[in-house]
Amino acid sequence: MIVYLNGDFLALEKASVSPLDRGFLFADAIYEVVRFDRGRPYHLEEHLRRMREGLAALRIEADAGFYPAAARRLLSENGLAGSDAVVYAQVSRGAAPRTHVFPPKETPATVFAFARASDPQPEESGGSAILVADQRWGRCDIKTVMLLPNVLAAQEAREAGAMDAIFVRDGLALEGTKANLFALIGEKVRTAPNGPSILPGVTRGAVIEAAGRLSIRVEERAFTVEEMFSATEVFLASTTLWTHSLVKIADRRIGNGEPGPIAASLREALQREFRGEA
Ligand code: PDD
Repeated sequence: MIVYLNGDFLALEKASVSPLDRGFLFADAIYEVVRFDRGRPYHLEEHLRRMREGLAALRIEADAGFYPAAARRLLSENGLAGSDAVVYAQVSRGAAPRTHVFPPKETPATVFAFARASDPQPEESGGSAILVADQRWGRCDIKTVMLLPNVLAAQEAREAGAMDAIFVRDGLALEGTKANLFALIGEKVRTAPNGPSILPGVTRGAVIEAAGRLSIRVEERAFTVEEMFSATEVFLASTTLWTHSLVKIADRRIGNGEPGPIAASLREALQREFRGEA
């Protein structure tokens, strides 16, 4: 596996980051992941904008400009230029003696990226989810690597035999551990509005756009757990999942217990767009 680290392309075994890296010491870092169909990125500009906004929000002095060329080369060096693949980028505030305040200005950011084949699409037979209290910080809109609540919730879901966990805050069902959340409630597909409580998912945006093309009504308004239980369809959406239906949440059956047609048509629309067929 060839990876990108601070301007170089090298074997993963040769790539090393200082133990004093602030990504390791403080989770002082952001990440991003873009999906590619045979080298063609899906919504690259939106991912780059989110990366830039994250870097600016955390005042990490690094430029997202490295990403497009690095991703292209990583795909070709790893034999993924003809595949469905994802390229992750991780950018930290760099390595410096441990102290909370920012290191000296000249400390270079650590910039790491790697490519891998997309995971096989899970069977759209409908998944289940558990509910967990949202213990994340107040800026879930920034894609930081500070993912401990997500890691613990995902593990809790795995141990419960569920596909994912849904973060609940103030009675509202907000998002999954690595995906945004949608519910067909009445005639409208609802999803939490962008803001500090959720990640502004690129796939979330693509779902809303696709819904517009398909004349499916969308409302960006958060829903309660009770409203979610009354939904006829619930689904997750992310770069790595597309959409995926949830048919059982906290042991309650959603709709008729089968993946629904609205999620299916949106998922099909996204995949067609990805393959350049939209
Ligand atoms: N996760 N919400 C959270 C908490 C996420 O971590 C993600 C993405 C999303 C969906 O965002 P997007 O559509 O831009 O992928 C929503 C990525 C896939 C990950 O952690 O691997």
